[in-house]
Amino acid sequence: MNYQDRLYQQKEKALYRSLSLSDPSLVDLQSNDYLGYARLMEVGKIAAHLTIKGATGSRLISGNNTQHETTEKLLSQYFNAEGALLFSSGYQANLGVLSCIAHRGDVFIYDEYIHASMHDGMRLSHAERHSFRHNDLNDLEEKLKKHSGSGRIIVAVESLYSMTGTVIDIDELLVLNAKYDFTLVLDEAHAVGVSGRDYKGVGYEKAHEFQNLIRIITFGKAFGYAGAAVLATELIREYLINFSRPFIYTTAIPINDAATISQLIDYHSNNHKPNEELDKLIKYYLSQVTSFNSNLTITSNQGPVQFLTIGDAPTTIGLEKNLLFKGLQVKAIRPPTVPAGHAGLRISLHAYNTSEEFDILFKTLNNVS
Ligand SMILES: Cc1ncc(COP(=O)(O)O)c(C=O)c1O
Repeated sequence: MNYQDRLYQQKEKALYRSLSLSDPSLVDLQSNDYLGYARLMEVGKIAAHLTIKGATGSRLISGNNTQHETTEKLLSQYFNAEGALLFSSGYQANLGVLSCIAHRGDVFIYDEYIHASMHDGMRLSHAERHSFRHNDLNDLEEKLKKHSGSGRIIVAVESLYSMTGTVIDIDELLVLNAKYDFTLVLDEAHAVGVSGRDYKGVGYEKAHEFQNLIRIITFGKAFGYAGAAVLATELIREYLINFSRPFIYTTAIPINDAATISQLIDYHSNNHKPNEELDKLIKYYLSQVTSFNSNLTITSNQGPVQFLTIGDAPTTIGLEKNLLFKGLQVKAIRPPTVPAGHAGLRISLHAYNTSEEFDILFKTLNNVS
């Protein structure tokens, strides 16, 4: 099939994608800038006055700089890991880890909703892949029982799922980790900076109790910038430097990006106000959302991503349009991202939102049955 036909087919299936600009004059209930750091950077409150400088090569050739190493040291201390390794994006970090930590004969067991970058990394590894039902740790245990003994097992999950707002039960996962001795890749892209103890991610507090834990954190979401890091043992760090092709065969993350990440971490450790404001708004949102319409099914997690199940895709898309008309930018999530009949609105909450903005949202949702 040619390109034109494939695009036409996407349109026929209502899966066609196109780029649009978000409007800064409208209310933001869709971005990942949960703490408003991107806005603080824009007005020079974080990471101002950095000199721009290219890395000039891959980390293993000419691109390694003291700034990369300083930032990695800071990250490992801040997030309580033995080692940290920077990547240019979370996509690349997931690809870089999952493609090389398992081989033919090993087994990946993964949540059916994990991010595309984890899928792509697993595919490159040639290991077997088996999914378990979304956030269902009983089903994970069934799969662990079934595949134990047939090679190394790697479990791949997210801590906070950005499309549905579901959060993993970290204590339950710890029990399984002790019982079945698997490597855990925990993608904290949406949790780091906003969830868990000291807002350092869902896995942070118990990180030391896990066996073989690899955490992926990103700086393009709550930290409002870009880039990512892998948090793991020194041994895994050394292994990635030697075998992770997405780390080896690419220009190093720019030096000023590494410096910006250090400044963001500094800011985060000294300024809890955006987190406190966000937490207050999440509480307000959760306390009000169903009192406007008790028919709504909500995800009641304490994180910044909330999901409202509406049901069918056309009604959900109609609501998205209606909300936009009222000045609110909200994303409709529909199949195939979620199963048929479970379309809904992904409500992304930020430190800079206001209760008045939520009230507009709630009033619009009032009539949904
Ligand atoms: C769970 C998860 N992991 C990884 C990524 C990729 O991160 P980045 O945007 O830094 O490439 C995303 C981005 O949407 C994500 O949601």
